[in-house]
Amino acid sequence: MMNRWHVLKRLLPLLAGMVLLLSACGRADLSTLRPQGPVAEEQFGLMKLTVAIMVLVVIVVFAIAVYVIVRFRRRPGDKTIPVQVEGNHKLEIIWTVIPIILLIILGVPTVKTVFGLAEDHTKDPNAVQVKVTAHQYWWEFEYPNLGVKTAQELLIPNDAIISIEAKTADVLHSFWIPSLAGKTDTNPGGNVNIMYFEAPKTGVYLGKCAELCGPSHSLMDFKVKVVDRASFDRWVAAMKSPVALPADKEVADVLNSQCLSCHAIGANGGQLYPNLTGIGGRQAVAGILVNTDDAKYENEGTVEENLKRWITDPQKVKPGTLMPKVDLTQPQIDAISKYLAGLKLDYEK
Ligand code: CUA
Repeated sequence: MMNRWHVLKRLLPLLAGMVLLLSACGRADLSTLRPQGPVAEEQFGLMKLTVAIMVLVVIVVFAIAVYVIVRFRRRPGDKTIPVQVEGNHKLEIIWTVIPIILLIILGVPTVKTVFGLAEDHTKDPNAVQVKVTAHQYWWEFEYPNLGVKTAQELLIPNDAIISIEAKTADVLHSFWIPSLAGKTDTNPGGNVNIMYFEAPKTGVYLGKCAELCGPSHSLMDFKVKVVDRASFDRWVAAMKSPVALPADKEVADVLNSQCLSCHAIGANGGQLYPNLTGIGGRQAVAGILVNTDDAKYENEGTVEENLKRWITDPQKVKPGTLMPKVDLTQPQIDAISKYLAGLKLDYEK
């Protein structure tokens, strides 16, 4: 008895730790266990059904096992051989039929959901079409029907189906918004995978890359910002409006030669790298440096601080990134960061 108590005492901190760990799984912007839209809810429903059946099986099997161990244990002096049940038809039928029934209960809704979520909305005129391209280590979002391209922050309206066509520009990644939708792989070799989801509640959700893709895989975060239809329309219009370059000619020249050779701001610059239009109003810089005015954690700062940090040494923030360390003086870095931080799109009213 003493021994068992010692074992229990050692297990208690472990149990407490697990409770704490699991309670952190409840973030509505991040957790599969707190679905925020119909697709995520359907997936969560399947999880609940599966876990319920497994828990039921475990309880019943353990209860029977404990009962048998206690009830039929060998008593002192008992030398008889118990009844042998090997080849007992009744028992064999029972333990074959019950699992089959359980598998049918599990299988029918699973197959139904899997095919339901594979529905193709890429031709649906009412859906918002988004072409997602994964890059090491950032996300490109193109709205082909709206003529808009952005990066790192997927802006969507809360009143439509979002239809995703996902591909990769380099290696295997996986596009995942835990609390809104499942994940879909972006496979090399030109193949395009589709998925769809809906996000009825406005807010900001966290997206992740869910496939090991290199040293900065775990830093390949993105945001999904859900807004009402009017804000979304204003955002689309703002994305297409002309953006003023820095008034200071020297800063404008540096921006043109060092940044816009790759990046686009409004109609200026290249299209192959993350589009910077409205970057000052996004939730994060480089997808991972969270913009906030009262930073508490290492990866937080004001948008201007984060931009400085990123431009000063991209490799330090995201090892393996293709963003080069540009040869700029400190005043140039400051001026560029200040200009970029001021690039906000006025669409939320
Ligand atoms: Cu991209 Cu992991």
